[in-house]
Amino acid sequence: MTAPRILLFDSGMGGLTVARAVMQQMPEAHLVYAADNAAFPYGGWEQGHLLRRILLVMEQLIDSTKPDLVVVACNTASTIALADLRAKFALPFVGTVPAIKPAAAQTKSGVIGVLATPGTVKREYTQTLINDFAANCRVVLHGAAGLAALAERTLLGAPIDLDALRHEVLPAFTEINGKKTDVVVLGCTHYPLLAAEIASVAPWPVILIDPSAAIARRVGDVADETGRQVGSVDGPMHGTVVLTARPAAGEDTRMAYASMGFPVLTVLNLPV
Ligand code: DGL
Repeated sequence: MTAPRILLFDSGMGGLTVARAVMQQMPEAHLVYAADNAAFPYGGWEQGHLLRRILLVMEQLIDSTKPDLVVVACNTASTIALADLRAKFALPFVGTVPAIKPAAAQTKSGVIGVLATPGTVKREYTQTLINDFAANCRVVLHGAAGLAALAERTLLGAPIDLDALRHEVLPAFTEINGKKTDVVVLGCTHYPLLAAEIASVAPWPVILIDPSAAIARRVGDVADETGRQVGSVDGPMHGTVVLTARPAAGEDTRMAYASMGFPVLTVLNLPV
C-alpha cells in the first residue's frame, strides 16, 4: 500500500500536537502541515466570518497540496466548519472537538473543566457534546483568550510567564458542593504544548485530557478505509509547512516547525 498524503490544518502551531501523534502512529504517512497564521488566533473571530475564512483557505490548501485526507487539527475550526467542509470537498475530513465524552468516563467527582478558546466554548457543537455525553456532570467551560498565543510564544523559545498562565487556566478549576474538578479537557490543540506547565499551576492534581493520540488513531482508521489516491503534485511534500503569511519571528518559527518534524517552510499569501 502506498502512503497517504495527509494535510493537517490549524490556525497556528497547535495542530503540531496532533501531527506529532499521527507521526508516531503512522510513520509511513506523508504529512503536510498548514497554519492560517495570517488569521491567528481564531478564538476571537465572529462565527460567520471565520467559517468563510476557513472555507476559502481550505480551498487554496487542497488545491496546492492535493491531500488524500485532511485533519482539521483545530477545535475552533472543527466545531463550526466540519459539516461545511465535508459538503464542499470530496475528501475525508477528521476533526478535533473537545474530548467531553472521555472526560465524563474518567471523572469521579462529576465535575469537569473544559479549557478551550472563547469561540469553542460558545459553540452549539460543544453544548451538544455536553448534553449527549456529560448530562450527569457539572461542566465548567472556560474560554481562555490568551492561552493559544502563550503556547506559541513558548514553542518559539520565550520563557513562560507562569502568572499569565495561571490567569488563563484557573477558571476551569472549581469546587461545587464539596466536589472538586478532577478532569480538565484540553479543548484546543495548542494546549498540550503546555500540559506540564498547566499541571504545575493547577490548584490541585487533575487528569488533563490530551486527545491527540485518539485523533491519530481515527486518522489511521480513515486512511485505511480511504486508500491512497495518487495526488497530482510532484514529490511527497512530506515535512512541508504552508503558512498564509510570512511569520513575524521568521527564523524562530522555522526552527520551531523543524523541531516538530516540518523543516520545509513555504508561504501561500492569503491576507485576512
Ligand atoms: N488550535 C486551535 C484550537 O484547537 C485554536 C487556537 C486559536 O487560533 O485561537 O482551537
